[in-house]
Amino acid sequence: MSQSLNKWPTFSPQPIATSIIPSPKFFMCSALHFSTKEAENLRKTLTNISPQGPKRNDLVAQAPPKENFDEIFKSMEGWARDNILPLLKPAKECWQPQDFLPDASSDGFYDQLRQLQERTKGIPDEYFVVLVGNMITEEALPSYHSRINGTEIFHDKTGVDDTPWAIWARGWSAEENRHGDLLNRYLYLSGRVDMKQVETTIQYLIAAGLDVGIANNPYLWTIYTSFQERQTAIIHGNTARLAKQHGHANLAQICGTIAADEKRHESAYTKMAGKLFELDPNGMLIALAYMMRRRIEMPSHLMYDGFDDHLFKHLTQVVARIGVYNLSEHKAMFQHLMSKWKVEKLNGLSSEGQEAQDYVCGIVQRITRLEEIAPTKATKEAPTVSFSWIFNRKA
Ligand SMILES: [Fe+2]
Ligand SMILES: [Fe+2]
Repeated sequence: MSQSLNKWPTFSPQPIATSIIPSPKFFMCSALHFSTKEAENLRKTLTNISPQGPKRNDLVAQAPPKENFDEIFKSMEGWARDNILPLLKPAKECWQPQDFLPDASSDGFYDQLRQLQERTKGIPDEYFVVLVGNMITEEALPSYHSRINGTEIFHDKTGVDDTPWAIWARGWSAEENRHGDLLNRYLYLSGRVDMKQVETTIQYLIAAGLDVGIANNPYLWTIYTSFQERQTAIIHGNTARLAKQHGHANLAQICGTIAADEKRHESAYTKMAGKLFELDPNGMLIALAYMMRRRIEMPSHLMYDGFDDHLFKHLTQVVARIGVYNLSEHKAMFQHLMSKWKVEKLNGLSSEGQEAQDYVCGIVQRITRLEEIAPTKATKEAPTVSFSWIFNRKA
């Protein structure tokens, strides 16, 4: 046990000021904020997470020894070349940000720019707050590439490794890079947001790092990214739907196109995790239970703009209020992944695997209970706050 503990994530002191760590009143996914006493008590019971943060002893589980990672992932290499790498699109077949933006080298640039700005006039500030949140999350890509490269198996030792895992890591980052570029340029051209404040937030966020509890464990990485890519796809998809409702077809196309990429990435990570569940059900169940207890954090939860100590919490309130992400979607996402990985049907487990399976299979019921008492009304009625991103106007 003690040997394997060394390979399991540990919780070191936060690298940044605690004032910018989000409130503990986030259940599992930090995009969901609950403020009632009852919901908070239930959350504590469900997650074992104290207001001071995760308790190491509650959360450390026995991890498979490192040698198992090497052996299992080695055995998956042929499968990954056939099933995962085809999910990356060659650059020449990919869309590029310029496909959706006014062409600064064309004579019609100023007309196209004027039209773009005209079309944004009917869109409320709160929508732009959420779009900025999406863009900032994408723009923290250096942290995500750094994290995947710091993960065993995916680690690219030479920078040009030819393992399917390193090829995937580079190709995935290369595709992701277009998302931040497109949203950033669109927001800049829209003239609706304070770009300097937005850019400052991106700098703070990349410097703060990424604290999502996966350490260098490749099992945790595939589980975390399956959730995160699906969640991101839902969020971009709903932002596209709202843009359409506001009569901005071009912006709907931008957000929808990004959402489609996220779905492809979700499919890759979900398949990787699914294969691991087949090969090492005990190890993956323990990893999944760990991740659920640790909770799935949004990758941008450490965001800060230099002014608002609760910026992420305030952003998530707007996200919930305008219907971009809510608890029901979170429950559906969890159910979808449980069913993809056939978690309930796994059998022949060790006692630790069985215990982990019991825990994760009870989560949907607990979310349902939380849904019943969740203060949806309170979230909707959360007071508007000023955001530096929209020139300190309230949203
Ligand atoms: Fe993305
Ligand atoms: Fe993504």
